[in-house]
Amino acid sequence: MEEYNTIFKKQYKELLSCNADHKTLVNSNNDTLRIQKDLIRYATSIKNGTNYNGFRFLHEWNPEREHTPLLASKILDIIQKVRPKNVCEIGAGAGIVARYVREVLDDDAKLTAIESLPNHFKHLNTHLNNHFMLNRVRTLNLSAHKLDIIKDMEFDCVYTSEVLMHIPFLVAVGIISEIARVSSKYIIHCENVVSCLNKGDTLEKEMNECRIDYVSLYDKLGFTVVSNDVYPYKNSHHSFICILLERCE
Ligand SMILES: C[S@@+](CC[C@H](N)C(=O)[O-])C[C@H]1O[C@@H](n2cnc3c(N)ncnc32)[C@H](O)[C@@H]1O
Repeated sequence: MEEYNTIFKKQYKELLSCNADHKTLVNSNNDTLRIQKDLIRYATSIKNGTNYNGFRFLHEWNPEREHTPLLASKILDIIQKVRPKNVCEIGAGAGIVARYVREVLDDDAKLTAIESLPNHFKHLNTHLNNHFMLNRVRTLNLSAHKLDIIKDMEFDCVYTSEVLMHIPFLVAVGIISEIARVSSKYIIHCENVVSCLNKGDTLEKEMNECRIDYVSLYDKLGFTVVSNDVYPYKNSHHSFICILLERCE
């Protein structure tokens, strides 16, 4: 598995079993080759800025839209409670949440914002710059499926806001294993539940239609749930989840 991070490479069979339907997704060596092919395709599309079908929804996303205030406020509440000192956002988009987070962090705390798509990364830097914050946030144009330049447990809090729901199962499991590797203490996972099912069309279609069982996946990666809240969104059928996880001793 050339294109994957160390934890995924070692544990992928059990990590891929953390799907909501409890399917055994990897049975044979042939499955491993197919998985590898899809991962390489994903990594190539990120590097070249080309589309990966399961990812198409993101290309329609307007990075400058105003962020859902409800989710951002839940992340801010947690950050203000646990007061981390070295924070990382994965999939920062245009940096709207990162800007709010920077405002509530202690002055001596650090914030890194990671974004893979070059176009969104440009918006991220512009947005932070427009709010006089570019010198207070480290921005990195990297894909979170393999964060080679980040050390194990480099951050004490890593959060995602409306990221993993857009990403096909296979890749999302890999990204979460990398999030777990780089967090020494907390993970905050927030997303819109309805969009979880929108996975598009990938090579590993059947696998990528699976939904992640987040609690068991984070558990296998050494994190336990501190709180797991569901919020209805306005009067629609949408709801949001916000999970706070802490590394087990
Ligand atoms: C719906 S946007 C949310 C942006 C931001 N978190 C917010 O709440 O406003 C999801 C973002 O995650 C980014 N993303 C998707 N896959 C990624 C990956 N593998 N590594 C880093 N960022 C990724 C997308 O490019 C996009 O900018």
